[in-house]
Amino acid sequence: MPRLTARERRESYQREYAFQKKHGKSFFPNAVFHDTIVSLIVVALIMGMAILWHAQFGSVPGEAEAGRIGGLLGPAYEAKADPGVLAYDPRPEWYFFFLFELLRLFKEPALLIVGSVIIPTIWMVLLIGWPFIDRNPDRRLSRRPIALALGVMVPIVLLTLTFYGSKAPGAGGAVSTEPGAAAFANGPCSTCHTLANAGTAGNVGPVLDEAKPDYETALNLITNGKGGMPAFKGQYTADQISCLAGYVATWSGATGTTPGPSAPSAKATYPASCEAAGGDFAGVAAAGG
Ligand code: HEC
Repeated sequence: MPRLTARERRESYQREYAFQKKHGKSFFPNAVFHDTIVSLIVVALIMGMAILWHAQFGSVPGEAEAGRIGGLLGPAYEAKADPGVLAYDPRPEWYFFFLFELLRLFKEPALLIVGSVIIPTIWMVLLIGWPFIDRNPDRRLSRRPIALALGVMVPIVLLTLTFYGSKAPGAGGAVSTEPGAAAFANGPCSTCHTLANAGTAGNVGPVLDEAKPDYETALNLITNGKGGMPAFKGQYTADQISCLAGYVATWSGATGTTPGPSAPSAKATYPASCEAAGGDFAGVAAAGG
């Protein structure tokens, strides 16, 4: 088919438009009817999921704190907000991970505004202005290389940012004043481990808030090391190691309970070992070597 001039294209479009207007299906009631059916299906689906979610509620006997556990579709509600938590690591919902990651790309405080305001604003303005910028009436993809490239690139960029955003370590928070916290946060542990209570965000070793090691595991790993985890026997005294193990076991938390002295993984002797080791053993970082 020979290439048409803009005028010919417009005329052919108008012919088609007039034809459709005469013989095509009207918006009302055809499209309205379709939309109504689809909307009803969506509403029924949401109601079905809500009923399923509600039917799966259960509770852990003797653990009112843990909230009502749920099933496949998530818990009824999670543990109550704890005003005693000093190190809270805020993370966005998954659909904002791309913005989260975009923000992380700009580390300089002066450049933060680029990731947080300027780029998102440009995106939004482009999105709103797109129909005015791209006025090409052609619908054939081969005639619209730029639109096609952009249409492929944008989702790829967004998905990539979302993926890395989901893996991003937390920003780290404030160090708590629990015995052992400062030693953990100021010592070598912080470079490799994330532990909310200590406000650390290392990502070489396991996230301790998720691993939730018990006292014996922690004691053994800190003493003897394993894989990428160095042994600290000889660098730390027995009291210091036992303090760190107790601190980690107590504050990494156990499933279903708020971390702390009442967690099943807590070790009653731990604060004592920290005191024996000199509180939060100042200069703990220098103890290595
Ligand atoms: C050089 C990085 C590095 C440093 C420093 C480090 N760890 Fe580790 N840690 C690791 C790695 C890697 C593992 C996983 C070991 C394995 O299972 O093979 C680990 C595992 C652990 C575990 C067991 C977690 C589980 O899976 O249950 C605990 C507890 C722990 N580390 C505590 C500490 C403490 C406390 C310190 C500071 C005294 C510390 N780590 C310093 C890298 C490190």
